[in-house]
Amino acid sequence: MRIILGITGGVAAYKAAELARLLARRGHQVRCILTEAGSRFITPLTLTSLTGEPCYGANPDHGEWRALPTIEHIELARWADLVAVVPATANILGKAANGLATDLLSTVLLATRAPVLWAPAMNTGMWEHPAVQANVARLRGFGHTLVDPAEGSLACGEEGAGKLAEVEVIAEAIQVAGTPPLPALAGRRVLITAGPTREDLDPVRTLTNRSTGAMGVELARAFRDAGAQVQLVLGGDLPAPWGVDTVRVRSAQDMLDACASRWADAEGLVGAAAVADQRPEVRASEKVKKGDGPETLVLVRTPDILATLSATKRPGQWILGFAAESEHHLDHAAAKLARKGLDAVLLNDVKDGRAFGDQPNTLTPLTPDGSEPALGPLPKDALARAVVAWWADRLARRS
Ligand SMILES: Cc1cc2nc3c(=O)[nH]c(=O)nc-3n(C[C@H](O)[C@H](O)[C@H](O)COP(=O)(O)O)c2cc1C
Repeated sequence: MRIILGITGGVAAYKAAELARLLARRGHQVRCILTEAGSRFITPLTLTSLTGEPCYGANPDHGEWRALPTIEHIELARWADLVAVVPATANILGKAANGLATDLLSTVLLATRAPVLWAPAMNTGMWEHPAVQANVARLRGFGHTLVDPAEGSLACGEEGAGKLAEVEVIAEAIQVAGTPPLPALAGRRVLITAGPTREDLDPVRTLTNRSTGAMGVELARAFRDAGAQVQLVLGGDLPAPWGVDTVRVRSAQDMLDACASRWADAEGLVGAAAVADQRPEVRASEKVKKGDGPETLVLVRTPDILATLSATKRPGQWILGFAAESEHHLDHAAAKLARKGLDAVLLNDVKDGRAFGDQPNTLTPLTPDGSEPALGPLPKDALARAVVAWWADRLARRS
């Protein structure tokens, strides 16, 4: 992606260098524009060194750092696939919300037809001021993406909202804003489950499994990037992805409750969670003490989330399930597809601990029409994109 990174005059400007480096490392072409105030916080030399691309000054006529004199503001605006302003001052938000073009960055922002993303950073009082909030609302209304500032201790010594969002989060939001949606999924509401469930024996002991939730979280990202409105019901400890409405759950029953209240509004369900099949019959409210004799743990079945939601499936709703099998893979997956009334099953081979965590993985799609060529082996982010592309293609052909 060709990215213009606008850097304005806040203390967090130094973090833009880290962002520029991260984006360049991920293969993006990054050209920076410093405002005059921005150039008091960070130097063009740092930015050109990290990106290998020119850095532009505040004013194209007098820009000390104008590397390509032939490129005017309109050409820069056309060049960009995305314009990101990180950090964004209250000043630049106000200028852009009101169509002012007083320097190179504000002029490019007005001229570009590319998606625009803002990551504001400022003192809490400034951020909460109605004028700033009105400007932010106006920019959202233009279709711009806002990466809201985080809460924390600010350079001014105050505690509160206004701290620049984490650089990784901003990079993720840039990826989303710059990815064109897939027509079959754009605006579609998709419910995704991910991660392990935990069935507690007592306040300190739990029954769980080896799933981390990595595949489901990457699927949530891939559906989000395809333009879907994703709700993620997440077990385990992985961080929630940016731009995904995430609810955290612990047990299979919690996961079912969270899904049941969201299912009616969704168009599709992706059941990637590794849901416990059993839970302890009794959950002790106090820590169970060591006994003298032999001990037996009595287990009872947990609710079957996919089967329960499938039973209330409306016409047009679809469900993708996952099957983790260590033997008789295709037979077991086909049985699951039929038994639970699913639209497709993605088959994982989990023999010898394969498929868990960060490992590359392979998924074989099965539909009522039969099995399809395997997707992968691929790292989970690429595999999730392959699953989404495969499913979007089937949806497009179905409608
Ligand atoms: C030390 C210092 C730190 C500043 N930090 C911020 C900040 O974090 N956020 C902000 O909105 N303005 C901040 N300002 C004020 C802006 O630099 C000022 O509004 C400037 O005109 C912004 O210009 P620009 O938006 O063209 O970069 C700071 C000013 C100084 C002197």
